[in-house]
Amino acid sequence: MRRPRYYVTTPIYYVNDVPHIGHAYTTVAADTMARYKRLCGYETLFLTGTDEHGQKVEKAAAAAGENPQTLADRMVHRYQSLWQRLNISNTDFVRTTESRHHTAVTALFKKLEAKGDIYKGEYEGWYCVPCETFLTELQLVNLACPICGRPVEKIKEESYFFAMSKYQDQLLTWINKHPKMIQPNGRRNEIISFVSGGLKDLSISRTGFSWGIALPNDPKHIAYVWFDALVNYLTVVGYPNDVQRVRRFWPADLHLIGKDILRFHAVYWPAFLMAADLQPPRQIFSHGWWTVNGEKMSKSRGNVIDPFAMVDLYGTDAFRYFLLREVPFGQDGDFSERALRQRYNSDLANDLGNLCFRTLSMIDRYAGGRIPPRTSSAKMKEDDPLHKALAGLGGKMGAAMGELAFHRALQAIWEVVETANRYIEVTAPWNLDKQVKKKQRLSTVLYNLAESLHLVSLYLYPFMPQTSERILTQIGIKPSFESWILAKTARLGALRPGTTVKKTEPLFPRLEPTEEELAAEEAAKQRKTAGRGKQGQQGAQKEQKAHKQQEAQQPAGGQAPGQITIGDFSRMDFRTARILAAERIPNSQKLLKLRVSLGTEERQIVAGIGTKYEPDQLIGKQVVILANLRPAKLMGVESQGMVLAAGDAAVASLITPLEEVAEGMKVK
Ligand code: MSP
Repeated sequence: MRRPRYYVTTPIYYVNDVPHIGHAYTTVAADTMARYKRLCGYETLFLTGTDEHGQKVEKAAAAAGENPQTLADRMVHRYQSLWQRLNISNTDFVRTTESRHHTAVTALFKKLEAKGDIYKGEYEGWYCVPCETFLTELQLVNLACPICGRPVEKIKEESYFFAMSKYQDQLLTWINKHPKMIQPNGRRNEIISFVSGGLKDLSISRTGFSWGIALPNDPKHIAYVWFDALVNYLTVVGYPNDVQRVRRFWPADLHLIGKDILRFHAVYWPAFLMAADLQPPRQIFSHGWWTVNGEKMSKSRGNVIDPFAMVDLYGTDAFRYFLLREVPFGQDGDFSERALRQRYNSDLANDLGNLCFRTLSMIDRYAGGRIPPRTSSAKMKEDDPLHKALAGLGGKMGAAMGELAFHRALQAIWEVVETANRYIEVTAPWNLDKQVKKKQRLSTVLYNLAESLHLVSLYLYPFMPQTSERILTQIGIKPSFESWILAKTARLGALRPGTTVKKTEPLFPRLEPTEEELAAEEAAKQRKTAGRGKQGQQGAQKEQKAHKQQEAQQPAGGQAPGQITIGDFSRMDFRTARILAAERIPNSQKLLKLRVSLGTEERQIVAGIGTKYEPDQLIGKQVVILANLRPAKLMGVESQGMVLAAGDAAVASLITPLEEVAEGMKVK
């Protein structure tokens, strides 16, 4: 059977500037879609590239004192190396200065000309060079471009026009018949009302500059840069000469673009295609824009987010994850490094990282490092939530990806991760290991956990390819993302037991708080204290008074035996903390070495809780510690504090906050 095909594109990026987070966003989204479709068995064509012609690039080159081709050759590497860093799996990269593109643009122009849709006239109006857009007087806002707010140029020159008005009805009918063609729906409605308002003919050549493709019939005319650029989507399918390939890959399945360039894609482009007797693309999806800490991103504000820097700091996959998880695709979103760091620590280090780490350690410890088999007789009701989450994952992913709801797809994966983490708590493998009769049950639980990691890693692949490979390798499976893999292996019971797991470094080591985060935390604490208001202040005063009275009532010469003053108590610095790692101290039954986070710092604490708890059971738990206890050595290991636990001689339970709280919070 011939594989179905899928063709997805990004915009081609202008080479007058370096890549920023906006460019990275579309390209990561397109890559995720392409990878997902490949897993589903599609022969996938995934195109990105650079838009190298036009007045804007010509001006940038002049300002840099070089010729435009040199500028383009220099800048194209910035894009290509970013795509490598971001692990982008494009199958083609188009540059509008390539001869294959020249051929396609010329052919399309000739086709429209032969159709009688091209005529010579005079364009008189305004032009915005940064947006490469023609504007009418009415569209200007304070004599500036309504899109970017920058000054516009008045132009009056001879031009060739495309008879776009001829296609108004045909285009409207097409859009109405294909409700998914323009998405999201809000944007679709904007386009419908724009087209219904009347389409004017479009100037598609300029004589005021020279950096571009000369029209075949009149070489002093240079193709309007948007006419030139849009054709790139046809160039790579071999238009006009490779008829077979055009037939196979056209129409494109998905043009991913930002909201600012929707009109070019959803009005001009389908009209050109209709005139050339080609079908409009199946879908044009316009995503929102990123602001940065609430502000528009711009060079003048100096707040442009450099994707290279983000990858250097947080890694490719964490950055990819954040882009697609933080904001529903289609909506505007705000980028802040703080939000990225929070997601990194909570979703990646805590949820996913811990699940892997705990599962692998337990398979290592309780099953000799090999994935044990599942025994149906050892199935229990407590397996149901995990099975349900796993069984529903494929359907949820399919539905979410079909709507380009990347954040929902990731939520579905994290539902499994969270359910699996809870499953560890509920099934308590460390207890099962202690009972000879529970060995089959233990092996079933461990299998279920390994299976969860297996399915999570497969579905995570389109979003975080390297992480997916690392998880698969850790559970002893050779990573393979061939087509149909989802159909072949992404189902319950497909994981074969017996493979040897490879416990390696944590997938996402926790990030330490930055100075800025510490300062913000401190400010929040102070605001909270100040925010208690008058009532609070009065309350605090009363409290102090009561303490004083209490101290005054102490018998002369000190407190009653066994009693301490509130002052004594306040010298003890109790804090909330999270256990990051736990291991047994060799030759001791009782002592565990814990690594805990206090938010602002990490401590090593030795605790005598080893007869009550297994190390794996403790990872990720919040506890209360006495933080200002003088450090001491226990069996040669330094302990920098004490973990609080209830119990007399034996430990009955660690003390943990009722709700999740910030780490390092005072306990009083
Ligand atoms: N060259 C044209 C596209 C031609 S496609 C036939 C172009 N290039 S661009 O480099 O200026 O912009 C490319 C993309 O970046 C656009 O989709 C735009 O929406 C996107 N973004 C630019 N700034 C952005 C944000 N701040 N946030 C998200 N995307 C943004 O336009």
